[in-house]
Amino acid sequence: MRFAIIGCGRIAPKHAESIVALPEAELVAVCDIVPENAQKFADKYAAIPYTDYHALLERDDIDVVTIATSSDLHAEIGIAAAQAGKHVMVEKPMAMTLQSADALIAACAQAGVKLAVIHQNRFNASIKLLRQALEAGRFGSLTHGQATVRWNRDDNYYAQAPWRGTKLQDGGVLMNQSIHNIDLLQWMFGPVESVFGFTRTAMRKIEMEDIGVAVLKFKSGALGVIEAASTIYPKNIEETLNVFGETGSVVVGGIAVNRIETWEFPDCAAERSEIMAQQENDPPTVYGFGHREIIADMIEAIRQDREPAVPGSEGRKALEIILAIYRCQATKAAVNLPLVE
Ligand SMILES: NC(=O)c1ccc[n+]([C@@H]2O[C@H](COP(=O)([O-])OP(=O)(O)OC[C@H]3O[C@@H](n4cnc5c(N)ncnc54)[C@H](O)[C@@H]3O)[C@@H](O)[C@H]2O)c1
Repeated sequence: MRFAIIGCGRIAPKHAESIVALPEAELVAVCDIVPENAQKFADKYAAIPYTDYHALLERDDIDVVTIATSSDLHAEIGIAAAQAGKHVMVEKPMAMTLQSADALIAACAQAGVKLAVIHQNRFNASIKLLRQALEAGRFGSLTHGQATVRWNRDDNYYAQAPWRGTKLQDGGVLMNQSIHNIDLLQWMFGPVESVFGFTRTAMRKIEMEDIGVAVLKFKSGALGVIEAASTIYPKNIEETLNVFGETGSVVVGGIAVNRIETWEFPDCAAERSEIMAQQENDPPTVYGFGHREIIADMIEAIRQDREPAVPGSEGRKALEIILAIYRCQATKAAVNLPLVE
């Protein structure tokens, strides 16, 4: 399966290294509007460099295009890639509006290509165990849950690229850093009925929020809490997901939802000891270990002609929740989903 990467910045090495580590994948082309960025990747991974993604998409030897540019360009480039007949892997958020997310989903469906959104934390060993327990009905009915991201992104981080923290190209800590955990919360709890939240720009010199808090009412009746902050002094503390139900309590914490901290089900002491003994260490960065698996899943999805693990329709859900929180901040009123833009 031949891959190309569009956008050779901070997250792109995760993709490139994952692709070259997979025996069934090959990185053939890379593109960045900054020629040195494309050339650096081309040299390192023996790929052909481009500075215009349209030219890259004209190649007929590319199966999958990975989009890792600033977030405002994901939908536009994804639609062009689909129209060129390439399968699309898009970094989160898949788009900045629901309208553009829907246009991307429709373009991929129309072209008959797969669309996968990079929510790699779904592949964390801890999250897979949690999901299995949920699917096996071990929680009974779910009561409530919480998604917490307490990280530090300082002014230097935001100054690295002009798109960071802006309304049209990035969003704030909810849209950029917390979208993975919000995806996990909604994946566990299902459709959301109503959202209320506040955002605040407390410390960083950015247009959008560096703190966001929200409460969710799920259609099931369960309640949810979101806390997102890029202001935590002096460094990242945790990305934690809590899931509570009638007969189960699980807390997955660590730096990037990678470590099971609480595992409570009836008669589970032996299982818990085994799980705790096998825990993986904190990943070297908050990007975690999941990129390789989500790319491997895309390859299998193409081979088996099935949906990828996180298709466009799934990536859209966390986007909708975050846009609803932004709406709450603007209107000071609760927002019922579906969100009408
Ligand atoms: N999954 C994750 O955990 C994760 C982690 C970090 C970033 N991301 C997402 O990945 C995306 C990129 O983030 P980043 O931190 O790597 O950003 P970055 O600014 O470091 O890199 C983006 C790159 O895209 C290039 N670019 C811009 N416009 C382009 C165009 N038209 N054609 C080709 N290249 C273009 C830029 O020159 C830059 O090199 C964002 O959407 C971000 O939200 C995801």
